[in-house]
Amino acid sequence: MTVLVIVGAQWGDEGKGKVVDLLTADAEAVVRFGGGANAGHTLVVDGEKVVFHLVPSAALHKGPRCVLGAGVVIDPKVLVKELDEMRGRGLLPEGRVLISESAHLVLPQHFLIDGLRERGPGAIGTTKRGIGPCYQDRAARRGVRMGDLAHPTEFREKIARNLAAWRPTIEAMGAEVPDAATVADEYLALAPHIVPWVGDVSDALHTARAAGQRILLEGAQGTMLDIDHGTYPFVTSSSVTASGACTGSGLAPTHIDGVIGISKAYTTRVGDGPFPTELHGEAGAALRTAGAEFGATTGRPRRCGWLDVPVLRHAARVNGLTSIALTKLDVLSGLKELQVCVAYEFDGERIDTPPARGLERVKPMYETLPGWSEDISGVRAVADLPEAARNYVSWIERAVGVKASILSIGPGRDQTIVVNDPWT
Ligand code: GDP
Ligand code: IMO
Ligand code: MG
Repeated sequence: MTVLVIVGAQWGDEGKGKVVDLLTADAEAVVRFGGGANAGHTLVVDGEKVVFHLVPSAALHKGPRCVLGAGVVIDPKVLVKELDEMRGRGLLPEGRVLISESAHLVLPQHFLIDGLRERGPGAIGTTKRGIGPCYQDRAARRGVRMGDLAHPTEFREKIARNLAAWRPTIEAMGAEVPDAATVADEYLALAPHIVPWVGDVSDALHTARAAGQRILLEGAQGTMLDIDHGTYPFVTSSSVTASGACTGSGLAPTHIDGVIGISKAYTTRVGDGPFPTELHGEAGAALRTAGAEFGATTGRPRRCGWLDVPVLRHAARVNGLTSIALTKLDVLSGLKELQVCVAYEFDGERIDTPPARGLERVKPMYETLPGWSEDISGVRAVADLPEAARNYVSWIERAVGVKASILSIGPGRDQTIVVNDPWT
């Protein structure tokens, strides 16, 4: 396997960061291909917790290149902060980072608009990181890109044109339009920290692949937040599924050798929108406490519920999953019984995958499986898991139709059971 894609199989926060960090040990390049600083990817290495929002979750390793592809929307302040963090750890030698000149910049007006919209009736519970308006500008062909940072005169003109386009909207919402010169000054002041790392990502990745180097494509968010295949309109504004890994990196579909879907052993969602297996009240609160389910970007409490197999079947289908990494299995320890949603009742019929419309109307159909009481966070081999935990995993594999390559039983890098090495 030369090129592997990691995607979230649910509503984000599945533990992608942890799995990417783990698989990075055998990679030569790790590439973020979409989303922006709405993502929060957590790594726990030797007891220390680090959260990355933009740089790939490979950043704590010495070797592999950290790449941001064309599909990423970049808040330069967050980027510079994370590059500083890497530099502070002595992990930023020449050539270590490569940022696509085609990636779009998240601008102050994007934050402003995102925040204003979230105050209105169409609020969907975004992270307020300017993501939607930035992708909106990309599609409207009036965005400002990383490559523009190296050309100050052109950059200033583009900022002014972009602000002129937003002016009527901002004024109609009763807010003050940012000053173009101030915005340009602020961003150009950061340019010297960024421009040296900007280049042609697609070309670099094709060259690396041709040389037999292993490339890991790190997804952000999760399948159910995908702009096309998620719970629209309660989604993010980009293609977060495996096909987005191609458009967002410049590698080709025929170059992808495997796609690993990351799923929690239960389900969480942060933000608004339908969530069929959500547990309200005490049961949900207990899962939130056991799993420390608070957003890595916004700190918001995550909504928690049982595992939703229709969602995973959908993820397996649209991403072409070759395996699953099942995380947070340890969190379920101590529950006598586990409910798993096997199908939905929808308008009087049984359906096995989420409907494109009307997910808020489905009734989950549950099966009950036995739980286990043992603490499994120290287990390092499948054979040492309690029988009920092994059965839970194989039940999921059968129900979804995809095998698990990795089981995660704690946040630490070492708290992992590799069932099948995805690189081989
Ligand atoms: P990501 O956005 O998919 O990278 O996931 P987040 O970092 O937002 O959220 C996952 C959270 O679960 C982080 O706090 C991780 O440290 C933690 N985590 C990951 N895997 C496990 C696991 O197997 N068990 C437990 N208890 N925590 C985990
Ligand atoms: P990672 O990569 C969980 C959610 C927001 C909101 C919706 C739209 O850490 O898994 P946006 O700011 O993108 O316009 O918000 O998407 N969301 C995430 N939820 N994990 C994420 O990223 C998310 N990124 C966006 O909460 O519901
Ligand atoms: Mg996250």
